[in-house]
Amino acid sequence: MPDWKIRRAPTIHSELEVPGDKSISHRAVMLAALSNGTCVIKGFLPSEDCLCTVAAMRALGVEIENADETTLIVHGRRRTFKAPKQDIDCGNSGTTMRLLAGLLAGQPFRSRLIGDASLSKRPMKRVMDPLTKMGAKITAEGQDGRPPLVIEGGDLRPIEYLSPVASAQVKSAVLLAGMFAKGKTSVTEPTQSRNHTERMLEYFLVRPQKSDLTVAIHGGQTPESRDFQVPGDISSAAFWLVAAAAQPRSHLLVKNVGMNETRTGVLAVLLRMGAQVREIVENEEAEPIGVIEVRGARLKATEIGGKEIPNVIDELPILAVAGALALGTTVISDAAELRVKETDRLAAIATNLRAMGGQVQETEDGLQITGGIPLHGARLDSFGDHRIAMAFAIAGLFAEGETVITNTDCVNTSYPGFYQTLENIVKEPPSPQTPVITSLPS
Ligand code: S3P
Repeated sequence: MPDWKIRRAPTIHSELEVPGDKSISHRAVMLAALSNGTCVIKGFLPSEDCLCTVAAMRALGVEIENADETTLIVHGRRRTFKAPKQDIDCGNSGTTMRLLAGLLAGQPFRSRLIGDASLSKRPMKRVMDPLTKMGAKITAEGQDGRPPLVIEGGDLRPIEYLSPVASAQVKSAVLLAGMFAKGKTSVTEPTQSRNHTERMLEYFLVRPQKSDLTVAIHGGQTPESRDFQVPGDISSAAFWLVAAAAQPRSHLLVKNVGMNETRTGVLAVLLRMGAQVREIVENEEAEPIGVIEVRGARLKATEIGGKEIPNVIDELPILAVAGALALGTTVISDAAELRVKETDRLAAIATNLRAMGGQVQETEDGLQITGGIPLHGARLDSFGDHRIAMAFAIAGLFAEGETVITNTDCVNTSYPGFYQTLENIVKEPPSPQTPVITSLPS
């Protein structure tokens, strides 16, 4: 993909939808594959990460038809997969590798999971530890628990796992393995992470038990096949939300977007920063789906840390950009997890903000960003990380002169079409008729 060239944009007046939720798309395919029949998944995200999950499930013998790009027909195999004939390539996708590790821990064959250069540097010990305790044999061929992973699954015993990290991927790996253990497996996390797996297990009529920070599952259940609607990805919407929020007189409506309460932290942060944000849930079957409305303002700095972090974990790069545009010092803490994402996101954000003239201090687990200093265009690397590429494309809309983002192919892992949407948004003329959410008090 060519470099992106971005210039300062006028105010945003737009109404849009974003592609399907990445986390939910992965899980929908896996749970449908485990089910006892045919499931139609609508709104699937056809991005590289999610297509890795589809290819992986096909390699395990699951028949998946593409009715169209975003509609999959998955023929469930009642929990029983075939041994893969070759290595399973998880590409750039940590979710594919970690969730699949849980699924394969309960299958009586050997599989080898590989990934690209970035995924090969990401920690897998966090899933190897609980899955090994359950009886799976897992070897990491890389240093210090790094991929490739060789998994020899089989009979599993239930465990009560106290996870040291608030990670939905770890929780999900344990719950998926728990479906194959004889008895009740539970996982307790230090802070609530996104709850899609437990919500979706419930939707597929496998009843997890939830209390506070613990989720438990009884092994031996087969998900009931049901059709599933994937909502738009609020983590993709976040780029446009910030673009509108940080510009006084901008107005944005995002429709058909996921409103799961473990993912909407970005709205609370933008409200604290002074934007006008309203949302409404319109449909809540498998996952809540709704509309978000944002009106821009001169933003003010905020603090983001503690329990809020897992809820905004993927939005922190774009929230850091919001911090650079806000008056005062925005402090992000308790976010050391960002160092082990697709790249070290704390380092990447600091490097790119400084290149644009921003003032930022990197701490061990976060950033201190002095906002309100005018940004200037610069040539910026994505570091092969989709969210860094998109966050700095938005920063470019607020900078003097031209911003060039290089190494942009990575955006296809989560948001194919991002750049086209960006071009359309900056062209769209203000419309006085833009509808607003009327059912909420102003
Ligand atoms: C994800 C969970 C998060 C998130 C990632 C997707 C998931 O990772 O950053 O993009 O689908 O479970 P962790 O749970 O490891 O923090």
